Amino acid sequence: MSDNTRRGKVTVVGAGFYGSTTAQRLAEYDVFETVVLTDIIDGRPEGLALDMNQSRPIEGFETTVVGATTTSDGGGYEATAGSDVVIITAGLPRKPGMSRMDLLEVNAKIVRGVAENVAKHSPNAVVVVVSNPLDEMTALTQLASGFPKNRVFGQAGVLDTARFTNNVATTLGVPVSSVQTLTLGSHGDTMVPVPSACFVEGKPLTDVMDAAKVDELVTRTRNGGAEVVGLLKTGSAFYAPSAAAARMARAVIEDSGKLIPVCAWVDGEYGINGVYLGVEAEIGREGVQRVVERDLTDTERAGLEQAAAAVRAKQADVAGL
Ligand SMILES: NC(=O)c1ccc[n+]([C@@H]2O[C@H](COP(=O)([O-])OP(=O)(O)OC[C@H]3O[C@@H](n4cnc5c(N)ncnc54)[C@H](O)[C@@H]3O)[C@@H](O)[C@H]2O)c1
Repeated sequence: MSDNTRRGKVTVVGAGFYGSTTAQRLAEYDVFETVVLTDIIDGRPEGLALDMNQSRPIEGFETTVVGATTTSDGGGYEATAGSDVVIITAGLPRKPGMSRMDLLEVNAKIVRGVAENVAKHSPNAVVVVVSNPLDEMTALTQLASGFPKNRVFGQAGVLDTARFTNNVATTLGVPVSSVQTLTLGSHGDTMVPVPSACFVEGKPLTDVMDAAKVDELVTRTRNGGAEVVGLLKTGSAFYAPSAAAARMARAVIEDSGKLIPVCAWVDGEYGINGVYLGVEAEIGREGVQRVVERDLTDTERAGLEQAAAAVRAKQADVAGL
């Protein structure tokens, strides 16, 4: 890429597995001017940034990675000032046997503090939330930052859809590029697979696989995160999740208007009001440009309404956390 097409600043808050891998992917895109990586562990973000910068001659990218240690009173956030996009990955991941909701209280404290500092130093940023439980942390980030709802959205649907696609492709022994799938709803128990939007080489998924097999793959997709956590034993998935968040940040900086499944503020679409929920949206420089409705079957629509009801109650509680 020529120098004059590289633009903007993206900050990744949290330099754990998810955050550091995301920063690496963003830097290797070579579309941003600067990638900032922060953490509260003294020296970790600086060390990782230096390491990534040293990979530039090998991988051939010019984006600069900046590491900054931050403190609980907001010290260090100056390095993030004026970010165009901020990805929040700060917080604890699950351990085997834990649900995402088990992280609610501990991660709410972390995410609230991060959101306040982001709002102070990057008042015009678009924020992509990653920390779990995802739907609740997205709602909390919007509240704590005071940002317009279109400028705060969460990462879940790209990952869940990718897992679904991978499950279908490996089961059928076909390339992932020939499979199209979709999940909506929450990032958790009320994830809504949308078989009517799933195709293999252009044919409806339900024509190439029997219903029991589709159900089996849907269940595996819904438990996709737990399956990885169970194998790793410490920590949770980060390669596919970081790929998802990085693509979302790229859609923002490139103002692509790309249709992406994200956790977005829904107010009227599908007859659902006032909740952060997994839907398809066009993503660009202002964040969510438009939530796009598609025709759903009665079962899929009922699943989405059920998911909205489940996350609405929990999102109402985050104000007090
Ligand atoms: N949305 C998704 O699809 C998805 C997928 C995977 C993981 N996650 C979530 O992402 C989060 C991060 O996962 P991980 O695997 O990177 O965990 P990790 O433990 O490897 O990293 C988390 C990092 O956050 C840092 N941190 C804590 N408080 C901070 C603060 N106030 N400011 C800056 N950094 C802070 C920690 O020091 C740590 O380095 C977890 O909550 C996990 O559940 C979400």
